[in-house]
Amino acid sequence: MFKSATLLNFTTIFRAGDPLQTDAVVHPLDKLLFQEVSKIPPFEVIRDDDGVTLSLQMKPQDRIFGLGENLGGLNKRGKAYRLYAKDESSHTPEKSSLYGSHPFCMIDGESSFGIFVDYPSEIVFDVGFSRSDLLSIRIPSHNFDLYIFQNEKSTEIVREFLRLTGAPYVPPKWAFGFQQCRYSYPDASSIRSVAENFRKNDIPCDAIYMDIDYMQDYKIFTVDQKAFPRFESFVKEMGEQGFKLVPIIDPGVKVEEGYSVYEDGKKKGFFCVDKDGKEFVGSVWPGSTHFPDFLNPDCRLWWGNLYKDLVKIGINSYWNDMNEPAIFFTPAGLKELADQLEYVAGKEDLGKDPVDFLPKLWRWWHSEDTYKQFYHKLPQRSPVCHHDVHNLYGFNMARASAEGLRRLSPNERYFMLSRSSYIGLHRYAVVWTGDNHSWWEHLLVHMRMIQSLNMAGFFYCGSDVGGFNADASSELVVRWMQLGAFTPLFRNHSTKGSRQQEPWAFDDEALSIMREVIKLRYAMIPYAYSEFLRAVQKLTPFISPLFMKFPSERTKQCEDQFMFGDSLMVAPVHAVNATGRYVHLPAGTWLHWKASGPNSGDRKVLAAGDHYVSAELSEIPLFIAENKLIVLSKPQNYVGEEQIESLTVMGLVTDCASFTVIFDDGHSFDYEKGIVSTLEIEIAKQSSSYDARVKINQNPGVPVTVKKLHFEIYDQQGKVSKFEREVNLAQ
Ligand code: GLC
Repeated sequence: MFKSATLLNFTTIFRAGDPLQTDAVVHPLDKLLFQEVSKIPPFEVIRDDDGVTLSLQMKPQDRIFGLGENLGGLNKRGKAYRLYAKDESSHTPEKSSLYGSHPFCMIDGESSFGIFVDYPSEIVFDVGFSRSDLLSIRIPSHNFDLYIFQNEKSTEIVREFLRLTGAPYVPPKWAFGFQQCRYSYPDASSIRSVAENFRKNDIPCDAIYMDIDYMQDYKIFTVDQKAFPRFESFVKEMGEQGFKLVPIIDPGVKVEEGYSVYEDGKKKGFFCVDKDGKEFVGSVWPGSTHFPDFLNPDCRLWWGNLYKDLVKIGINSYWNDMNEPAIFFTPAGLKELADQLEYVAGKEDLGKDPVDFLPKLWRWWHSEDTYKQFYHKLPQRSPVCHHDVHNLYGFNMARASAEGLRRLSPNERYFMLSRSSYIGLHRYAVVWTGDNHSWWEHLLVHMRMIQSLNMAGFFYCGSDVGGFNADASSELVVRWMQLGAFTPLFRNHSTKGSRQQEPWAFDDEALSIMREVIKLRYAMIPYAYSEFLRAVQKLTPFISPLFMKFPSERTKQCEDQFMFGDSLMVAPVHAVNATGRYVHLPAGTWLHWKASGPNSGDRKVLAAGDHYVSAELSEIPLFIAENKLIVLSKPQNYVGEEQIESLTVMGLVTDCASFTVIFDDGHSFDYEKGIVSTLEIEIAKQSSSYDARVKINQNPGVPVTVKKLHFEIYDQQGKVSKFEREVNLAQ
């Protein structure tokens, strides 16, 4: 038996039992008029002692899109996905869980609908894997909420899902610039040298990350004074050169007498406990570690306030990692290893089957059993086993951090990047896709994932550009930078011991290509930022799969090209040694720009259909949709370095086209109160020329600095018209 009610525009909730409220949903549920029902149409429901299985017969043409951060195709059919947050550093194709858990998907078939299972522990979506014609969703519990969004249009389903779970948060404008990371730049002098290299090589960059080595013995909220003497003045020095520092903050608190975060957390009872009520111990980077109980609101408050010393010295951008939470091992696990080693000690032979022995030897490392060994103390509830709420840990860590930063600087937009996530985290933070590899296959994996993440509300996301694990070739990094330039988070990151991946770490040709790619990204910021704000306002993905904008049987098969905002389609090259690729252009004609930098690359008109387009190493296949516009500015060394005084407006106009550039201050929450200015550009084709109109809506809080527009407009035959317009503030 379930309880059911209708809400919003076309949503039905089905409630099983008495579910724990995850806070994924922002829409109030307490006033709903629930009725008892026995079915969840269109699913067949089987209930057993351990949980519920929902199954749906799929037709051959049915497709399933969504499930956020996951492997598999964009169409998720043909694989089983286990939604259970995992520190999974090798994204090989057979893996079924990654760092985030996003149980929202859309069924696209004869009748289309969306489904969101709000349940915070393991859920298995078997999408035609065990039986190719069956979608089966296994929830090992009798307590959960399930939402069905009944609509034929995927954009409407996503919009309704975001009405339910809230609009994405907007990071500060600088976060649309380029970001450089490495595990690790361990001290001030190495960060200084990275910063100098960017400026010396004339490469824009806005942020440099500080990975775990900046801390004293990996103790969170400490800074190693030897490696970073006079840290406060270092932060200032970097700021003056236009660099934000982004320190990593992990959840594990080192067990060490005299360390204030440990002592305070222990005194206040804010750490997760074992079955006997004692602080649970696991081992992560710092060694023996306690885990803050982020599901407890008082602990969240405490944790958020721990950012105060860093905020005071001017750091407002952070990186929450290892928050699945990753636990390398426990004392009991280590003991098991010791026992196993003792068992083999002195033996010369392991008997007839050493293969049985090896898994036992590794059981102690990253063991999921650990998640059943500690508990959360939630208000007005008896302790909850971590396993039962596992997917909420990272969500609540990032939320605690974000809420703290908002309290500490109420009108300053923080930057908060989280590795683990659950539905709803998009209201507080942004995500990256964790430890990928410098493999060509991962470019494609990345492209699919950012589209699926966008469907789940994570509009701002990205992967480790260049690949985190393994050594990267210069060609791979160049191609990945070209893709990264068209994902919101554009961050190059790589692991310890791997080949350096900064743009200057390769040959001169690669360096000059990467310089131009990054400059192109900076030139695109007025377009990208305006489109991002609009996407958030309209609750439609910023990175959109082709089929959501141009639904057709053909576009539903396009997984390696995507829309970047409403006007621009990107089709990155993702194969080794390739000097071109196939691309599908849906309805209308398109302006194909073989872009290698903001001021270079041929433009030519292509008709709808399938094309092979060439793309030399320096070229990115970009396509502007007919009667849509993009705007480009002069690239800067960092966002906000100079006022933007002119914009180039580019497009293929066969009838009329418009674009509205949105300006806000880029760093406060004032945009939420409507303190924005806009520049509306309209172009109408006349018989042999274009009529261009410009309208400014200026908010006194955000002066529009643009004085001139340079138009570069193409007609159906590819003939270009270049003209200029002064922007008159009185307009
Ligand atoms: C994890 C993170 C990675 C980071 C490393 C060291 O593997 O995913 O990005 O560099 O830890 O902190």
